[in-house]
Amino acid sequence: MAIDVILGLQWGDEGKGKIVDYLAKDYQIVARFQGGPNAGHTLKFDGKKFVLHTIPSGIFRPGLTNLIGNGVVIDPITLEKELALLDESGFQYRDRLLVAKKAHLILPTHRYLDAASEAAKGKEKIGSTLKGIGPTYMDKTGRNGLRIGTITLPDFAERYNALKEKHLGLLKSMPDVDFDLAAEEEKWFASLETIRNLQLVDGEYFINKALAEGKKILAEGAQGSMLDIDFGTYPFVTSSNTITAGVCSGLGVAPQRIGEVIGITKAYCTRVGSGPFPTELFDETGDKLRSEGHEFGSTTGRPRRCGWIDLPQLKYTIMLNGVTQLVVTKIDVLNNFEKLNAATHYEIDGHVSDELPFDLCGLPVKPVYRELDGWNQPLSGAGAFEDMPANAKAFITFLEKELNTPVTMISTGPERKSLILKDMVTA
Ligand code: GDP
Ligand code: IMO
Ligand code: MG
Repeated sequence: MAIDVILGLQWGDEGKGKIVDYLAKDYQIVARFQGGPNAGHTLKFDGKKFVLHTIPSGIFRPGLTNLIGNGVVIDPITLEKELALLDESGFQYRDRLLVAKKAHLILPTHRYLDAASEAAKGKEKIGSTLKGIGPTYMDKTGRNGLRIGTITLPDFAERYNALKEKHLGLLKSMPDVDFDLAAEEEKWFASLETIRNLQLVDGEYFINKALAEGKKILAEGAQGSMLDIDFGTYPFVTSSNTITAGVCSGLGVAPQRIGEVIGITKAYCTRVGSGPFPTELFDETGDKLRSEGHEFGSTTGRPRRCGWIDLPQLKYTIMLNGVTQLVVTKIDVLNNFEKLNAATHYEIDGHVSDELPFDLCGLPVKPVYRELDGWNQPLSGAGAFEDMPANAKAFITFLEKELNTPVTMISTGPERKSLILKDMVTA
């Protein structure tokens, strides 16, 4: 058996949570492989809405096991809050939620450092979610981090104090920021008790045994490929590998185990935080996309920057991920437009190309647009591709042709059931 992968092809918030929640019914395990509480994955079903940050989006499907993989960074405070919401809603998860012992812990001082680091950058700030992601991955690669598996060790408090002292030393040379460390530590240690009572496992053995037993597994990405630490719009990126390669290191599986790679793109494009965004719209069309798409961050509530779909950018991330099928989300947000645009190329200093330059930061990129006719009408509950307005079908066919990848799902609204399936394949 292979692991299918779902990930975002843009700058995050493509609708991964919704699609994972929908598809999870066909799998036995859903596993998160990177990122942490910087993610905000929204699920809507039966009139209820949930935003998950650490817990995989398969949690609401009865009988399905959810693994928080070793590549994820965990803030016990956030995870405990998420669990409390599940408890309140009456969802049983205790025997279905596993946490890899090799996942790293976000300490209160990691969040403190995140805030101080952004303050030090001033106008150049990344626009981080301030969840401590960067400092935690820095400690992981710097070989200083604390892992979930250490929380049951007798010398955990000592290890915690040693790392905290190191952080306090670093903070002395950084700008002062408001942070009540004592209060945050108290919450953190209280939450740790909840985490200790979860099932802590050797994730790599768990997942490989499940594969050997023929279980169907879905890996759930967080952020988007343009936020990847290696291939994103560096330095305006997150601190993990958000692309398919991250599944191997973030769960402990070999590359030949990867099956279908399902890449998600919005029918347009958004970004939250700083950094290059070639097709960003600063006019009323951008405002219209934001209001029709309710484009405000699921984690921070910040307004998202909006623009047209960007085909050079998508070709790049389809290549990096080995995408075998595409999901187009939020097509309904384009319902009230006479004309639509899709960037097919970039023009930089008179040179036209459909490839991304080494560094998009600070470059005078002019998107070359193809104008398409909008459908300018509601989708009227179209349940099948054939029922969609002609221009909406033409838009999807145009994307398939330009991106040389089949579109197998089209999302027509935030609800679980608002989805059109079109020749889907899974492992
Ligand atoms: P994720 O981080 O990729 O899981 O995406 P987010 O949950 O951060 O942002 C996607 C937002 O769009 C959420 O508010 C979803 O409820 C909503 N959404 C998802 N799919 C659709 C869709 O097809 N149409 C509309 N209108 N909203 C959608
Ligand atoms: P999901 O999984 C959108 C952005 C932040 C910032 C940059 C670095 O919901 O798609 P970090 O907190 O990682 O240091 O922030 O990355 N970012 C996201 N943008 N969706 C996300 O996750 C994001 N996670 C991080 O806004 O620009
Ligand atoms: Mg999100």
